[in-house]
Amino acid sequence: MCGIIGYIGEDDAVSFLIEGLRKLEYRGYDSCGVVVEDANGNTELYKTKGKIAHLEDILANNIENIKGNIGLGHTRWATHGKPSKENAHPHFDCEKKIFVVHNGIIENFNYLKRDLTKKGHKFHSDTDTEIIAHLIEEFYEGDLLSAVLKSLELVAGTFGLGIIHKDEPDKIIVARRGSPLILGVGKNEMVASSDVAAILKLTDRVIYMEDNQVAVLKKDDYKIYSLTRERVRKKPEKVEWKLTDTDKNGFPHYMLKEIYEQPETILNAMRGRILKEEGTIKLGGLESVIDKLKKMKRLIIVSCGTSYHAGLIARYMFEKLTDVNVEVEYASEFRYRNINISENTVVLAISQSGETADTIAALKEAQRKGALTIGLVNVVGSTIARLTTAGVYNHAGPEIGVASTKLFTSQVLILLMIATLLGRFKKLSMNDGLNIINALENLPSQIESILKQSDKIRDIAKKYHKFPSFLYMGRLFNFPTALEGALKLKEVSYIHAEGYPAGEMKHGPIALISPNCPVMAICPKDSMFEKMVGNIKEIEARNGKIIAVTTEENGILKEISDEIITIPETIEMLYPILSVIPLQLFAYYCALYNGCEIDKPRNLAKSVTVE
Ligand code: F6R
Repeated sequence: MCGIIGYIGEDDAVSFLIEGLRKLEYRGYDSCGVVVEDANGNTELYKTKGKIAHLEDILANNIENIKGNIGLGHTRWATHGKPSKENAHPHFDCEKKIFVVHNGIIENFNYLKRDLTKKGHKFHSDTDTEIIAHLIEEFYEGDLLSAVLKSLELVAGTFGLGIIHKDEPDKIIVARRGSPLILGVGKNEMVASSDVAAILKLTDRVIYMEDNQVAVLKKDDYKIYSLTRERVRKKPEKVEWKLTDTDKNGFPHYMLKEIYEQPETILNAMRGRILKEEGTIKLGGLESVIDKLKKMKRLIIVSCGTSYHAGLIARYMFEKLTDVNVEVEYASEFRYRNINISENTVVLAISQSGETADTIAALKEAQRKGALTIGLVNVVGSTIARLTTAGVYNHAGPEIGVASTKLFTSQVLILLMIATLLGRFKKLSMNDGLNIINALENLPSQIESILKQSDKIRDIAKKYHKFPSFLYMGRLFNFPTALEGALKLKEVSYIHAEGYPAGEMKHGPIALISPNCPVMAICPKDSMFEKMVGNIKEIEARNGKIIAVTTEENGILKEISDEIITIPETIEMLYPILSVIPLQLFAYYCALYNGCEIDKPRNLAKSVTVE
């Protein structure tokens, strides 16, 4: 939510900032802005409501004015104050000398604003961020760093901040508490950003800032401090992502590119982690806690959205393969509940970004109560990756489409790998382990074969994209898949959709069935097949339209369904990985036919870093 970027060096700041903002746009896209400063402290500020493309148009008309090697940029997802030019960042003080970009929320801004207003400060926006520029102005006595530190003492809430001052045009100050902030260390240039993706053009040497740290960036130097001005020594580390990972690579949208990447991301999640001769899995990131995991009696999974759906599937997997009791909780609920953490309870956070505010808060709550916390995270070095005692990375590369696709399948796969690893210490035989491994190894080619049906799924979407409402249903492992399919449809195509366990239909939702409310039935030939067929027949009897995702091309489902999408056979636990792919493609094509902004759905942003 909101992306910030800062550049200081010898190159043209504005072009770097704009390119970086394009990479950050998935984090928010209701307004944006840049400020650029030259060596004499002359500043040019451009802000607008709308997307980066609009800002680029404005800049193109003023390009000769925008000289300077220092600058800040911001792309916004509104929290305080509606999307408008005035509320767009960068914000500034009364004298327009101090400029600030911010990702996070200043919780006590009302109180601070009242106080600053009494002292004569004039505000230009409704945002919480603007008070930071005025606070710094209030404290400034010729040393920007000390004014920033004094200001931050008064601020409650979360921030990733970038700050420049006209009178100190040789530096950018950045600060972090609760919002991601990464420094990129180049040759005679430094960059700071909310996401590595915006840094890669300049360098692959990065420093992940910790909470309550401030850094002073000069073009050839950086110094990191605690909020009490003690120096913190940190060396850059190399990131594994490449610049090309953040491009669309010829696809019209990131969402489609990421759907098509799944054979590879599944392979990457397995690479080096399969011990075939022992019929088990090796996860280096869990080795330090493996003895505790062997003793685990209760696993609480905390996560949000798509990651939560992956967690729901893990519950069935752990039940089947281990003796661990699994609870799956929305992180946003868990953080405020009063859950007893008994001995041998482990809390697992699942998060693509590793920065989701609710999941972080849930983890902190679990830690306070003494739980061992582990993570399943995609973004290396992210807050959740660092907060947890141990964990597993997805190695799925950056996911930029706001609707999560490749991460869902990668998460489900790794959760099965964790369950298999633990199961092999107890009730799972070598042969059981091998069966799972064989099925895992078939997944990439099976996904390829589903992707080849893309045209067919596109045709189905063409036929159905005007329907106002859909029901998605499945049972056991495919109930969370139904939830995930419905979420995808809602978020990218704005069609109302609900996911249900098919057995629940008779308890209410079946009342919705009409020729106007099609049902997406996830019905592979698994232990629930006959039950699902029964449920589908009940829909058919009520004139409901049925799209079935199944392994059976020519069986009973063909007779009772309006459309059939086939997937290859696998073991029951892995059907969610195969059956979700047609659902992702269906949502994508419905959105395409409905003319929606697929990679930037309305009201959403990737990485929900505020509560
Ligand atoms: C849905 C989606 C969101 C995220 C959720 C959690 O397509 O992307 O529901 O899954 O915001 O995000 P992470 O996994 O980054 O914690």
